[in-house]
Amino acid sequence: MKELLEKFEDYLLNNLPKIDTFHPHFENAMQDMLKAGGKRFRPMLLLSVVKSKKPLFIENALKVALAVEFLHTYSLIHDDLPSMDNSDLRRGFTTLHKKYDEVTAILVGDALNSESFNLIANSSLHNDIKIELIKLLAENGGLNGMIIGQAIDCYFEKQILELEKLEFLHIHKTAKLIASSLKMGAIISNYDEKIQEELYNFGLDIGLLFQIQDDIIDELESSEIAGKTTKNDSLKNSFVNLLGLEESLKSADNLATKCLETMNSFDKNLKDSLWELLINYINRHKKYNS
Ligand code: IPE
Ligand code: IPE
Ligand code: MG
Ligand code: MG
Ligand code: MG
Repeated sequence: MKELLEKFEDYLLNNLPKIDTFHPHFENAMQDMLKAGGKRFRPMLLLSVVKSKKPLFIENALKVALAVEFLHTYSLIHDDLPSMDNSDLRRGFTTLHKKYDEVTAILVGDALNSESFNLIANSSLHNDIKIELIKLLAENGGLNGMIIGQAIDCYFEKQILELEKLEFLHIHKTAKLIASSLKMGAIISNYDEKIQEELYNFGLDIGLLFQIQDDIIDELESSEIAGKTTKNDSLKNSFVNLLGLEESLKSADNLATKCLETMNSFDKNLKDSLWELLINYINRHKKYNS
């Protein structure tokens, strides 16, 4: 897994978005948050699925994995804007709207969004596969996925949602992109449709768990440790605000158990590859259990 992550990091550093322009800082701004790090969770999900079936396809999948990271990074840059979550710190660095200005942060986000689709279009895969990947990323990272999730997250600040709607919000803003990362890996490596769907549905559970854990981290971690502004969800429909810390931890435990069961049902190569990546993620809230 370490090797795969290093391969992805190298690829990212060699393929940072570039622009030949007399603008004094736009190129740097576009690269800052990509270089800043982050867990690379979504690209690693994609690559781990490819590794389990077609390791030789990893080279060709790197561009698609990078596309997912571009789209995710754009979502973080916009998520931090004053009109959204108004955060000063991201991936251990000052957010772009603070370091430069709001215009730069908005436009860098826009650029990374469209560049992500450009990367897939320019990858060395069959055209029909590329179209499937572009559709999937657009559906899950776009209007009917992350965007509507973020819109609901921001619109319903200060209004308490019922649990079912909170789950809708978390699934859309976070889980769908995570689920589609797994499915993109499955499409690239030619897993059959049944496995593609199983991986997508598994990804929805992993994604919901990931966001519940993120809500717990917002409540319990310092900004220094988290590398991003925390204690920032006080007006949000977060799991912790709606259910309290204890119940949130219980929900995370239940989902973690479900995810482990599903992972155990996958064939050996897929299970081993996902297990290696996911076991620490699945358990990452457990250190907060009393
Ligand atoms: C943060 O995502 C936003 C959420 C959807 C919770 P990550 O926790 O994956 O952030 P990075 O990529 O590691 O910075
Ligand atoms: C953001 O959720 C989800 C995105 C689509 C970026 P959060 O607002 O909880 O993410 P953090 O805590 O700022 O990383
Ligand atoms: Mg947010
Ligand atoms: Mg935020
Ligand atoms: Mg959060």
